[in-house]
Amino acid sequence: MLSNEDNVRLTRVSPGTPMGELMRRYWQPVLLSEELPETDGAPKRTRILGEDLIAFRDSNGKVGLVDAFCPHRRAPMFFGRNEECGLRCVYHGWKFDTDGNCVDLPTEPAASKMKDHIKIKSYPTVEKADIIWAYLGPADQMPPPPDYEWTRAPATHRHVTKTFEHCNWLQALEGGLDTAHSSYLHRSKAWEGSAIRERDGAPRLDVDKKDWGYTYISHRNSGEDGTYVRVYQYVMPHQQMRGGVTKNQKRWDYPKLDGHLWVPIDDEHTWVYNWAHGIDHNTPLSKEYMDKVDTNAGRGPDDYIPGTYIPKRNLSNDYLIDRELQKTTNFTGITGINTQDFALQESMGGSGDGPICDRTGEHLGSTDKAIIAMRNLLLEGMRDVEAGKRPRGSAPESHRDARPFDTLVPPNTDWRQEMAYDLTPKW
Ligand code: FES
Ligand SMILES: [Fe+2]
Repeated sequence: MLSNEDNVRLTRVSPGTPMGELMRRYWQPVLLSEELPETDGAPKRTRILGEDLIAFRDSNGKVGLVDAFCPHRRAPMFFGRNEECGLRCVYHGWKFDTDGNCVDLPTEPAASKMKDHIKIKSYPTVEKADIIWAYLGPADQMPPPPDYEWTRAPATHRHVTKTFEHCNWLQALEGGLDTAHSSYLHRSKAWEGSAIRERDGAPRLDVDKKDWGYTYISHRNSGEDGTYVRVYQYVMPHQQMRGGVTKNQKRWDYPKLDGHLWVPIDDEHTWVYNWAHGIDHNTPLSKEYMDKVDTNAGRGPDDYIPGTYIPKRNLSNDYLIDRELQKTTNFTGITGINTQDFALQESMGGSGDGPICDRTGEHLGSTDKAIIAMRNLLLEGMRDVEAGKRPRGSAPESHRDARPFDTLVPPNTDWRQEMAYDLTPKW
């Protein structure tokens, strides 16, 4: 369990909070590239870490991310004109470029120097792997842009989506790092990953600390077949990488690795960025194939409210739970792996705190080791920032070589040797 003080420190992300300051030391996904499809196109509202911002793609294709409100009289920049390399507020015509400089201030006399002093708050952005990333922290602490195997994989081999989740980011991340739940929550006769997890519902976990977070290894006894080993990563501050391949379980129709980043919109809402990439140069990901994978996860093309990234099956309709299905083939009665996750995560026990879990009432067991390790790293990260140090995972060397995998390791063999090739990045 956590003290209330630590629970508050870990979950709150607005500017000036300890976690908010830690989060601001890393590049954060703010939009999918597809949300700003054209130069001089419509600006887009976005909210991250409790800040309301407007993103726009200027005439040169560069993405600006600025305060949602004009520095003149705080009018909404959303209604602005995106034209000739800048966003012009339509209240009185003040115009700003992607760096936040005021490039036109038509309401003042031509000789006025006021324009040179006016700025709109703006954050640096970079586009990588179909995502627009932003850095919201102090300029002198800005790390190099994100560099993961999945951001280096070519577009033919990569797939990135996002999903809205209505709860605090931390309980969503904890769900990702909690390997034990997959033996229960996701148990289903319709899911081919289910049987191997059901054979051993009490996995042993090892946590191996790294400069950027940790690798954790779960071992499940698989009888005469050996051991089912899953190697995962937790990458600071909110990313999980996982295998999904199960080499010796004939699951090669799913030759990919995948993961999520749980990006706080604010304390009570989260964007889940979902990524996947083929395991090597011979495994491109086709649209048909990924549609199937996404549908299985509950985030297929028909699973969102049209024009949004909000799932149709959500708390307002109890995720369309089918109690008959629950009695027969499916542990939860809810369809879609991630839908099952959301059902549990979006209304975890609070105490009048809405979508923020109150962890003072929990009782952690041996399978919660990875979650405890993650919380400790985040608490350490906040202390580092408070002490003026660079937090783990924000240094330049960082996390380039992190790679997950899972497979069945034959009896009496060393999983490290068995998996050495598969745990080496191919991009
Ligand atoms: S409020 Fe934006 S130009 Fe006046
Ligand atoms: Fe899950």
